[in-house]
Amino acid sequence: MIKEASTYPLLFSREQIAEKVSELGAAITRDFRGEKVVLVGVLKGAAIFLADLARTIDVTCTFDFIAVSSYHSGAQSSGAVQLIKDVDQSVEDRNVILVEDILDSGVTLTFLHRQFQGHKPRTMRVAALLDKPARRRVAVEADYVGFPIENHFVVGYGMDYAEQFRNLPDIRILPEEVIARIEAET
Ligand code: IMP
Ligand code: MG
Repeated sequence: MIKEASTYPLLFSREQIAEKVSELGAAITRDFRGEKVVLVGVLKGAAIFLADLARTIDVTCTFDFIAVSSYHSGAQSSGAVQLIKDVDQSVEDRNVILVEDILDSGVTLTFLHRQFQGHKPRTMRVAALLDKPARRRVAVEADYVGFPIENHFVVGYGMDYAEQFRNLPDIRILPEEVIARIEAET
């Protein structure tokens, strides 16, 4: 599967991703110099991004993870977001950086903003590796954006289609015929 997936159209190579992630890490380091941050990754798509981003941030930093469900399996959001796993440690009075793989309709981020306000963080920022502004249904933006992209369904570097392709090292566009084939199989 990985061999076949390496033929899907390349959107960002691992080198381009690494360079961009370093820029985001440098911006976060600048903004939070002398402070502590807690990176809160949104499982599972942001796991790889968080792992790389964390290593480019040069301030005291801890990790936590949350999980939400909205995309049940495929490419269309059901629109309803549910919290499946909350943070393990209190984020009250902490500098929270929510780490997302991709900002699409904005429904998930809007839900998470609301969710986190209840936890009373000192500050809350959002880092999203990718952003599809054309798909936005709710007006919400990330503070740190890697790459704005067109309306493609992308996989790799943590991002999936029906839980597949997260382990691709580059970010690729998932061809329509592959989507159709996976749909037929499941
Ligand atoms: P939103 O609530 O529509 O903004 O959805 C955001 C979530 O949908 C992201 O965190 C991803 O998990 C998922 N998602 C949106 N677009 C893509 C894509 O192109 N590939 C993989 N996952 C995506
Ligand atoms: Mg996600």
